[in-house]
Amino acid sequence: MSRLNAPATLAAWALVFCAVTVAVPAGAASREAVALTVRADAPGPTIDRHIFGQFAEHLGRGIYGGVWVGPGSSIPNTDGYRNDVLAALEALHVPVIRWPGGCFADDYHWRDGIGPRAQRPARINTNWGGVVEPNAFGTNEFLDFAERIGADAYVTGNVGSGTPHEMADWVEYMTSGSPSTLAQLRRANGRERPWSVPFFGIGNEAWGCGGNMRPEYYADLFRRYATFVRDHAPKGIKLVASGPHDDDYHWADVVMARAGDQMDALSLHYYTIPTGNWKHKGAATGFGEDQWASTLQAAERINEYITRDSAIMDRYDPQKRVALYVDEWGTWYDPAPGPDRGVLYQQNSLRDALVAAISLNIFERHADRVRMANIAQMINVLQAMILTRQDKMVLTPTYYVFRMYVPFQGATELPVRVDTPSYRYGAIALPAVDATAARDTAGTIHLALVNLDPHHEATISVRIDGASVHSAAGEVLTADAMDAHNSFAHPHAIGPAPFRGVSRSGRLVFRLPAKSVAVVALH
Ligand code: AHR
Repeated sequence: MSRLNAPATLAAWALVFCAVTVAVPAGAASREAVALTVRADAPGPTIDRHIFGQFAEHLGRGIYGGVWVGPGSSIPNTDGYRNDVLAALEALHVPVIRWPGGCFADDYHWRDGIGPRAQRPARINTNWGGVVEPNAFGTNEFLDFAERIGADAYVTGNVGSGTPHEMADWVEYMTSGSPSTLAQLRRANGRERPWSVPFFGIGNEAWGCGGNMRPEYYADLFRRYATFVRDHAPKGIKLVASGPHDDDYHWADVVMARAGDQMDALSLHYYTIPTGNWKHKGAATGFGEDQWASTLQAAERINEYITRDSAIMDRYDPQKRVALYVDEWGTWYDPAPGPDRGVLYQQNSLRDALVAAISLNIFERHADRVRMANIAQMINVLQAMILTRQDKMVLTPTYYVFRMYVPFQGATELPVRVDTPSYRYGAIALPAVDATAARDTAGTIHLALVNLDPHHEATISVRIDGASVHSAAGEVLTADAMDAHNSFAHPHAIGPAPFRGVSRSGRLVFRLPAKSVAVVALH
């Protein structure tokens, strides 16, 4: 099987290579070599750092207990934000956070979440378990949080149950430097300077929890609401339209045709479900190889959705002015029994790490159109970076992948050619090795490598066209079990280790362990 990470101009070059697929006897520990070529002489687009973004919704313990414990908590905090979480997120260089939802966004009225906390109303979180939303974490708390960890703010406005007036006021409250009453209200609430809000979503999942609309109707609403989101922000605000999910190409087509000229980005949502069945999705841990393979196959499906949505966008926007933001993606499993049932808390294993790496690699390959992505979600919800329980915190395998990929933020994508055997399970056949490469602003080339095969190490022979490379060093994430994970009892069961599988015999040769992700810098 061969995979070319390259723009169309390299298609002819791709023909030089032939696909290689081999049957490997069960139980074999290594298999036929993989050939990997990096075209350092044919750089592609910049990989927007925002594709390493995150999503934090008022859902379960995503915000309360995850980010926010309040200034009076016995859990160590700074102004109400957990110290352990702040430090962990700083190490990820989180480029952007999407907030407050999700489905929550179209039920959220921003005035509930400003002013003295004791006076804020308690509301029912109708989308997520009917729990009481205390509104202790509101606009000031979110924008302050984003600023503390150096992330851009992506705020999603309420189209489903809010008015254009309410949305316009919110933007003015956050971003106006004028002496207007709303800007003065912000100052009275403790924030003198306007915040930077570079991204604003006009509703969420308008086809579903955001209002169950038809695309024609939403496109008109987008035009109307967008008109009133006035640009007070010093650096401007990019407007994001609620886009399709999965393979709903009709939605993308209609919204682009009718409102493409008014938007800066169209969103795409896609969740990886092991069984493909929302009623019985599959477990987060304790699964067999059938669901290892089906999950990775499902994760790769987003490549097709992005490719086809991009083709639709190309028809209306050949200059690629409008970006595609994959502003919700990640794994979604059956809820584990226990108190968090129903609020999308799930464990996160080595399998999630591979899903993360495969997905990030796909976004990088589409860097010309995909200029933001937000994993769902940051803490304690779905494919989380971080799990917390009272004063304890666990970093997940997904967290480590995001940390390993930091050098790709804002780097220049380099086309990669991978000639790899297949990893096969039953009727599923996937390229065993997936890879991307990029050159950072200091000139260093970084390679991200994924071995999807849970049984066989991959021997990878690396060629770099257009750069001379003598050595490589980096980290690898792997474990004995497919569902290896960190728990509160064993918080360090899985984590990255120095990558030692580098040798030189003419070319650089990497020995990539079975079921692993590695990121290496080439020198
Ligand atoms: O991430 C959980 C939910 O999934 C979001 O609230 C919604 O937008 C999506 O359906």
